[in-house]
Amino acid sequence: MFRLYCLFRKMIHSASFFCLCFLLSNGVFGADRDEMKSVSVMERDSVSLNTDVKVQREDQILWMFGPQERRIAEIHKQVIHIDANPTFEKRLQMDDQTGSLTIRNITNEQSGLYTLQIINNIGNTRKRFNVTVFALNERSRHTKSVAVIVLLLVIAVVAGLL
Ligand SMILES: *[C@@H]1O[C@H](CO)[C@@H](O)[C@H](O)[C@H]1NC(C)=O
Ligand SMILES: *[C@@H]1O[C@H](CO)[C@@H](O)[C@H](O)[C@H]1NC(C)=O
Repeated sequence: MFRLYCLFRKMIHSASFFCLCFLLSNGVFGADRDEMKSVSVMERDSVSLNTDVKVQREDQILWMFGPQERRIAEIHKQVIHIDANPTFEKRLQMDDQTGSLTIRNITNEQSGLYTLQIINNIGNTRKRFNVTVFALNERSRHTKSVAVIVLLLVIAVVAGLL
């Protein structure tokens, strides 16, 4: 009976430990949440990093880049500010409704860690995006031009038939 009781207690212990880990990993404790999302994008494509929020009047939404968390864009009191940054030139766009960041015509230079920080009346939320840029290799370029030629041939044949 006593052994059973011990076993039971052990189970409770490990269960509560598990719960604690679960809660911690989900950021229930403390206002700071820090999660990471992986994003893959083809070179020269556009990619949007979504905040999944709707910007409220007083909110501040910050986007930072790289391990040094250098600020690249922000919206504060509904005013958007894109920092002058040679890595990004004119590639960045920020949505005024959501604060989501769009990187256009992406190159390998813009691959890396993007940190989003949302400061509002609820608290301070952080989210990270690991952006990987895949190079357009010769083969996919080749495939694309072959596809275009085939398409043109098909159009020519159809036009000929008509
Ligand atoms: C996209 O970026 C490449 C490399 O920086 C540049 O050569 C090209 O002109 C850009 N294209 C557009 C449409 O901005
Ligand atoms: C980001 O993703 C790349 C490729 O999947 C990986 O090699 C790298 O370690 C990741 N960076 C971080 C900080 O997790």
